[in-house]
Amino acid sequence: MRRGKGDPAIAAVMGVLCVASAVLVVAGAKGGELTTQLLNGFTATHAAGAAAAFEPLLYATNGVFAFGFLRVGTASLDLAVVHLPSSFPLWRATPARLGDWSRPATLTFDSSLVLTDEDDDVLWRTLDTIGDVVVLLNSSNLVLRRYSKPVPAWQSFHNPSDTLVLDQNFTASSPPLISSNRRFAFRLGKTYMALHMEFNGGRTTPIYWQHTALEAQPQNATEPPVYGRLDGRGFFGLYLEGGGQKVDVLSFDTFVQNLTGVFRRMTLDDDGNLRAYYWTDGAKGWISDYRAIAERCELPASCGAYGLCVPGTAQCQCLDNTTTSTSPQCHAGETADLCATDGRQQLDFDVVRRKQVSVAYKEELPPETNRTAEECEAACAGNCSCWGAVYNGASGYCYLMDFPVETLVYEADDRKVGYFKVRKVPSPKRARMSPGVAAATAVLSLILAGLAAAGAYSGYRLWERRRRKRAGMEQELVPGPYKDLKTMGSSNSSF
Ligand SMILES: *[C@@H]1O[C@H](CO)[C@@H](O)[C@H](O)[C@H]1NC(C)=O
Ligand SMILES: *[C@@H]1O[C@H](CO)[C@@H](O)[C@H](O)[C@H]1NC(C)=O
Ligand SMILES: *[C@@H]1O[C@H](CO)[C@@H](O)[C@H](O)[C@H]1NC(C)=O
Ligand SMILES: *[C@@H]1O[C@H](CO)[C@@H](O)[C@H](O)[C@H]1NC(C)=O
Ligand SMILES: *[C@@H]1O[C@H](CO)[C@@H](O)[C@H](O)[C@H]1NC(C)=O
Ligand SMILES: *[C@@H]1O[C@H](CO)[C@@H](O)[C@H](O)[C@H]1NC(C)=O
Repeated sequence: MRRGKGDPAIAAVMGVLCVASAVLVVAGAKGGELTTQLLNGFTATHAAGAAAAFEPLLYATNGVFAFGFLRVGTASLDLAVVHLPSSFPLWRATPARLGDWSRPATLTFDSSLVLTDEDDDVLWRTLDTIGDVVVLLNSSNLVLRRYSKPVPAWQSFHNPSDTLVLDQNFTASSPPLISSNRRFAFRLGKTYMALHMEFNGGRTTPIYWQHTALEAQPQNATEPPVYGRLDGRGFFGLYLEGGGQKVDVLSFDTFVQNLTGVFRRMTLDDDGNLRAYYWTDGAKGWISDYRAIAERCELPASCGAYGLCVPGTAQCQCLDNTTTSTSPQCHAGETADLCATDGRQQLDFDVVRRKQVSVAYKEELPPETNRTAEECEAACAGNCSCWGAVYNGASGYCYLMDFPVETLVYEADDRKVGYFKVRKVPSPKRARMSPGVAAATAVLSLILAGLAAAGAYSGYRLWERRRRKRAGMEQELVPGPYKDLKTMGSSNSSF
């Protein structure tokens, strides 16, 4: 884990800070004077280009966590709650526009916390809050509250970034966890939790992993929604809101060991996997004891856009065979679709066809059944929001991808075929659609219109998907070699 490693720069915690000392409450805590609360009127300034990567402003009384200015990457500035022994940021403010580390920035507390840059532009603030004091709890929860009210006006536990910690409630109304590269999200539904890819600024969010609470009843409308919480005993529990009845437990590898006194976190990592980690005193790094997705090839983007992951060796190829995995990506990644702004027309694209491909997360894609390979391809070709179609000749299932093509999985079965669109980089010569492509598109549109499936089908697909989920039916009628590989793959290989 890149971020799990200790950053030596943070060890030198005394950054160059210009602090208005009059408003600080200093506690004579163990071995030094640590600021444990911020009062109204507090101001701290980040000095341009400070040497330390983290400048703490506020400590938890247990001395394990601190809140302050964090350098992100080489040159950006954010506010963060950091686990000091590991230098890991458990929470980040993550403003839409990050600050610039090489320029001054100011944090003030005056009823609300406000981060401003040197031009006094607000980068981040706690919205609609009135507080008397800001403290960092021993749990790492950053809390802003009034003296007269026990319930915080604002707390970082209700605004997670990519990480949950012990005893932090994660609810359907919480903002999702977003990986720090902002490509993946972890959300709760009423009775399930799911991992999503994030395209087009979060407007297209296909699911690639889902877990339904074992004892929740999705069909019971009066049952309250579930929420999740990381438990110190080594599991992630799902409970019903209100009563708190436990409806599922995802137990970690250390659950049986009854580890005591370890600090745990659950993080949506940049590769799209959701992992749990724990930290013991004197440890050199975080140890992972749970991951949602066991095999690298099942991650949705393990080989990048238009990549092909070969299970077993977890080796990467390119869908079009032309390039090798040595370059960072086979083709440029996409975020939007191929729909022209003026209407139904489709932007120019090239086609890549490939045998022996499949989608790792096809359980999450509603299939169209009883299709031929040609019908499957035509359904995608004529639809500007479709980027690819994967067809299983054994089952007749057709999976349409209405999101940009990321990594596919190799399967040694010639009946599994894929059709993928690659955006044509517009060049002055071929700015408009060539007559051939236009004609082909028109023909395909006709074919598509002819398919009785077109309109009402998506509603049916949704219904069918729910029905299958309820019935707990196996996804594919014909078990393929991929399922076998899944069970054969070593479940404790770490990547
Ligand atoms: C936080 O931890 C410190 C040191 O372990 C302890 O003295 C203090 O009482 C704790 N605070 C709370 C509110 O539990
Ligand atoms: C989490 O939810 C439980 C049950 O509703 C509640 O008792 C607990 O105080 C909550 N924890 C936090 C940190 O809000
Ligand atoms: C639906 O959920 C409510 C609340 O949990 C419960 O009281 C009720 O018995 C459930 N109904 C059915 C049909 O299971
Ligand atoms: C786990 O540890 C706690 C505290 O040390 C102890 O009270 C409990 O009995 C242990 N449970 C098991 C199953 O070993
Ligand atoms: C599948 O398609 C064929 C030919 O289009 C049709 O005869 C058959 O009834 C269809 N089967 C199902 C289950 O829809
Ligand atoms: C194109 O695909 C999208 C997403 O799958 C679907 O909602 C839409 O109905 C399709 N359009 C046509 C004309 O089939």
